[in-house]
Amino acid sequence: MAMKKMIDTKLTDIINSNFLAVELFEKYELNYCLKGNSTLGSACSEFSLKPEKVINEFSNLSSGITGHFRMHEWDIDFLCDYIVKSHHGFIRKSFPSLIKLSRNLENKGSVIEGITGKLELMESDFSEHMNKEEKFLFPHIKKIRKHETGNSEYEIPPFGNISDPVKMMVREHEIAIENFGEIKSECSGFNIKGIKDPLKKEFYELFKEFEIDLHLHFHFENNLLFPKAVKAEKKLLKKYYQTNHL
Ligand SMILES: [Fe+2]
Ligand SMILES: [Fe+2]
Repeated sequence: MAMKKMIDTKLTDIINSNFLAVELFEKYELNYCLKGNSTLGSACSEFSLKPEKVINEFSNLSSGITGHFRMHEWDIDFLCDYIVKSHHGFIRKSFPSLIKLSRNLENKGSVIEGITGKLELMESDFSEHMNKEEKFLFPHIKKIRKHETGNSEYEIPPFGNISDPVKMMVREHEIAIENFGEIKSECSGFNIKGIKDPLKKEFYELFKEFEIDLHLHFHFENNLLFPKAVKAEKKLLKKYYQTNHL
């Protein structure tokens, strides 16, 4: 991709062209999960970072198999299953370990007081959020996909369309990232340099892994699944109104 063109390319589209770009965006803290529609140029300007630097590194990335998962081409029902299996599963698995480690460290005064309480609160917010997705939004998205591929007539759900619940989920992602950022800064940015306590090291490393997974998770929902589902639903509704002469 030419340099000028890439500066004006959205972060999501860059990831779609090579998934390994995520590594670079993490390195430069470019907010690809919540601001996937920002161009590389505008995302870099927030940090006074020269986009040319990122572009040069991008051109050195491997263009082999690892960079081309073509996730943007995945069907919405498959994306739902993938997110639940991979990311919701990881969150549910990680919180008990994070909370256990945090409690041990807090008891010996190794982390700021109150971190464990914040983590417990975060766990319950996440659990509520994921339940809304798994019990309500994702099943409806799967229904959309079923109608898209089948011949049965689409029935409009009582809540109208999915734009409002999608907006609610996106807002909850922003809040989760904000809360996470607060804990991150209270934990020295999870910097393990110079840390001798193996327990604290383990805590920070697990947290770092959690952060990267969270960014990917929100990227898949905000930038791939939700826009695709809204678009597919619009198409179905158009057909519905035409068929029913409304
Ligand atoms: Fe999710
Ligand atoms: Fe979500």
